[in-house]
Amino acid sequence: MPKEQCFFSLSDYRQMVEKARDFLASKIKKSPEIVIILGTGLSGAAEEIEIEEIFPYETIPHFPRSTVESHQGRLVIGRLAGKRVAAFQGRFHYYEGYSTREVTFPIRVMALLGARILIISNAAGGLNLSYQPGDLMLIADHINLIPENPLRGPNIEEWGPRFPDLSEAYSRRLRQLAKEASGSPPYLREGVYVAVSGPSLETPAETRFLRLIGADAVGMSTVPEVIVAKHAGLEVLGISVIANVNDPDNFQPILLEEVIANAQKAEGRMIDLVKRFVAQLE
Ligand code: HPA
Repeated sequence: MPKEQCFFSLSDYRQMVEKARDFLASKIKKSPEIVIILGTGLSGAAEEIEIEEIFPYETIPHFPRSTVESHQGRLVIGRLAGKRVAAFQGRFHYYEGYSTREVTFPIRVMALLGARILIISNAAGGLNLSYQPGDLMLIADHINLIPENPLRGPNIEEWGPRFPDLSEAYSRRLRQLAKEASGSPPYLREGVYVAVSGPSLETPAETRFLRLIGADAVGMSTVPEVIVAKHAGLEVLGISVIANVNDPDNFQPILLEEVIANAQKAEGRMIDLVKRFVAQLE
């Protein structure tokens, strides 16, 4: 459990972020402008990176530790499709007991190091019944049902505005670029992601509700990171791997092993999409 770190003041948090930033700044010649967060079953994408440096999370001052077995915890710096990237293998979830400030710690650190673009991936449950397991969904927009906003509390003006605009949380430009780069294969969807707190999965009634409010996919991550990335002025591309599809009228048990296995099956597609996309970036 993430025990000690849960309760700290904003000024302590700021110092922790700055310490992690200073540590990485002292180790990396030039910090990458592209940051990639790899979700459940997708951490193999980091194997594609020509590695320059690896930082296990425990070597970075104040960095949270991963508690989920399916997630490794390390930051990989290197080249993907010719571009320098920083990829986080293993992320932090609200359901693990972390505050959303802890969940978004890596984003804050990379933003202070000069990141410009965030590529964030996750495994999600499909709510749109035209989706199939293994599809990829470009996130067009989100609905936040995680009951804690990472920006709640005093605002650090140097980090971003008090009331960040989310009218285009997921960059239209980057989505267009992703579609063009990939040639828009039939399994590439575009839809709304809803974040729930988890860790229990949805009931059939909750699934019906989430569809009614306009979501195409449901998961337990991503939204806190995107809120902080937007606060810090980053441009965001979000990709969900549809690991399972939940039909409220024919509801099947959602098994973690199947979710991970399906995410891993789609991993190649995800890697291919991210590589083609990154190659197009200036
Ligand atoms: N619900 C919530 N989170 C998920 C799911 C789901 O069905 N599949 C993968 N992550």
